[in-house]
Amino acid sequence: MPGSELFGAEERKEVQDVLETGVLFRYNHDATRAGHWKVREFEHALAKFNNVEHCLACSSGSTAVAIAMAAAGIGLGDEVIIPAFTYIATVEGALLGGAVPIFAEMDETLCLSPEGIKKAITPRTKAVVLVHMCGSMAKIEEIKQICDEHNILLIEDTAQALGASYKGKKAGTFGKLGTFSFDFFKIITTGEGGAVITNDRNLYERADQYSDHGHDHIGDNRGAEGHPLVGFNYRLGEMSGAIGVAQMRKIDYILERQRKNKSALHNALAQFSQISFRHIPDPDGDCATFMDFFLPDEASARAVVKALQEEGVPAITGVQYWYDNNFHYIKNWEHLRNLTTASKIYAQTVELPQNYNDYKTFLPKTESLMKRLISLVVKIAWTDEQLATLTQKITNALKKAL
Ligand SMILES: Cc1ncc(COP(=O)(O)O)c(C=O)c1O
Repeated sequence: MPGSELFGAEERKEVQDVLETGVLFRYNHDATRAGHWKVREFEHALAKFNNVEHCLACSSGSTAVAIAMAAAGIGLGDEVIIPAFTYIATVEGALLGGAVPIFAEMDETLCLSPEGIKKAITPRTKAVVLVHMCGSMAKIEEIKQICDEHNILLIEDTAQALGASYKGKKAGTFGKLGTFSFDFFKIITTGEGGAVITNDRNLYERADQYSDHGHDHIGDNRGAEGHPLVGFNYRLGEMSGAIGVAQMRKIDYILERQRKNKSALHNALAQFSQISFRHIPDPDGDCATFMDFFLPDEASARAVVKALQEEGVPAITGVQYWYDNNFHYIKNWEHLRNLTTASKIYAQTVELPQNYNDYKTFLPKTESLMKRLISLVVKIAWTDEQLATLTQKITNALKKAL
C-alpha cells in the first residue's frame, strides 16, 4: 500500500483547500470554488505522467473498467478475453455490461499470454481486457500485434501497475483505453477512485458523458447541459481528487523506493536454486510492488508459505499465496462460476462458450502457475534495519522449507 504509507501534510493541505470553499463537487460552481479544480488537476497530472492526451477520473478501478467497456461500445453478447488471475472486478465489469467473459491462459508474466489470447479468439471477440498484474506488464508488443491483426480492441486494466512501462512507454497507453484504481491498496491512493486514459478524443468524450448521466459538461449550468447518451454516476469527488493531486507528486519517489527494496528481496531469494522468478519483459519498467516467485510444485509452495509464516514474515510484510485467495483467482470464484447474481444478467440467458466450472480443462497452464506462485508485498517505508531483518527471515524460512 505504498501511497497510503506516505500519507501526510501534503494530502491534508490539498483537502483543506477544498474544505475552505466547500465545493465538494467536481463540476460547475465556478464562482465559489476559488480556482480549485482538484479532480481536473489530478487528471492532468495523470495524463502528463502517462504521456496521454485524455484522462477521466472516476469513482473506482471497477467503474473505470465499466466506463472503458461502455465507451468502447462493448455490450450485449460481445465476447471479451480476460485472465483468470486478476481482481474479480475486471470480470464483473464485463459481465454486468452484458458481455461474455472468455478466460484465456496466462504465462510466466502473470498476465494473459499471446498464445492464450490467440486460442480464445472467435468471430464474436470484441476486446481483450489485459490486466498488468502485480505491478508489471504482459508481453505487450506481441499482444498488441495480435489485437491489431484481428481488429480486436485492446483495453488495459492497469489498476495494479501505475508507472509500469515497456521500453519507456507507460502501461495503459498501448491499447485504446487504459484503466487505473486508486483504492486504499494501490500504488497511489485517493481512498476510493479510478481513472480511464486514452488518446482517442471520441472515446474520452463518451467515457466522460457515460460517467455522469450523459452530461456533456459544457457551460456552468448543470441543468441546461446536453445529454448525448444515457449514462450513470461514476464521478470522483473533489476531496478524493485533492488527495490524488498530492499523491501524484510522490509517484516517482514511490517507484524508486519500491525498486530498491524489491532488489533486496530478490537477492535473498536468488540464493535458492529451487526458486524461479516471474518473467518481466522490461525489468526497467517494473513498478516493483510485489516480489513474485515460483516454487517447483504446489507442495513446496505451501511449505514455503508455512515457513514464512512461522518465521514471522507477515508481521513485516504481506505474503500472498494467490491460489487460495477468494478474490483474485477463478478457483475460488464459485459465485461467479455459477453466475449467482442479484438480478438477471445477459450471460444467464444464453449457452456460454465456456463452462466456467471446468476452468482447469481450458486453463491448465494458469492452474499450474497459480499453484506455484508466491508474492511478497514490497513496502517503501522500510528502514535499512527492517529490510535486513526481513531478508534474514526470508532466508531462514526458505532454508527450513526447501
Ligand atoms: C486488476 C484490478 N482491476 C480492477 C480493480 C478494482 O479497483 P477498485 O477496488 O478501485 O474498484 C482492482 C482492485 O484491486 C484490480 O486489482
